[in-house]
Amino acid sequence: MSYDDDKWNELFELAKPYLTVRHNQVHTEICYNFAQQLLEKLGGDPEIVMPAIILHDVGWSAVPTEQHLLAFGPRKIDENIRRIHEVEGAKIAARLLKQTSVKEENRLEICRIIESHDSSEKAISLEEKIVKDADKLFRFSPEGFSIDAERFAIERVEYRKMLQQFIKHWFFTDLAKEIAAKELQKIKNPQL
Ligand SMILES: [Fe+2]
Repeated sequence: MSYDDDKWNELFELAKPYLTVRHNQVHTEICYNFAQQLLEKLGGDPEIVMPAIILHDVGWSAVPTEQHLLAFGPRKIDENIRRIHEVEGAKIAARLLKQTSVKEENRLEICRIIESHDSSEKAISLEEKIVKDADKLFRFSPEGFSIDAERFAIERVEYRKMLQQFIKHWFFTDLAKEIAAKELQKIKNPQL
């Protein structure tokens, strides 16, 4: 399988103005790499997965910054605020996708995935499973781990233990579970 990185770079450029908050640009880049790894081994349609992962968090741009930390993370969250980022994200994604060559039937599925990527615990297609798993894998990457431990103000040792527990519940695919465990191994000095 080959990926038309130029095509996805173009979409990434369209998304960037909407990814300036919440470390979302680096978050999206890391998720994109995980999505590629999952697609390579599991199959799935890159024409759905790649645009969905690039655009999945553009909706945070529609949520006031001071409300962000109320709406995600390991502690109790405000589900209404989280919902705004999904609904607004799907609207922004639909507008951006119209400026691209992504097929109309795919655009609908991409926006459906974005519209429920956090709040729904179900995934009805392989593409949706890959997007959701790639999104969560960010937290297990060394860079994502450091960003989250700091913004959630959790001790790194404690946070690493929490993530270890989450692996078996959070992911749809066994491959994502394997990758998550390997990523956590890279965090050799969680106390730093
Ligand atoms: Fe995300």
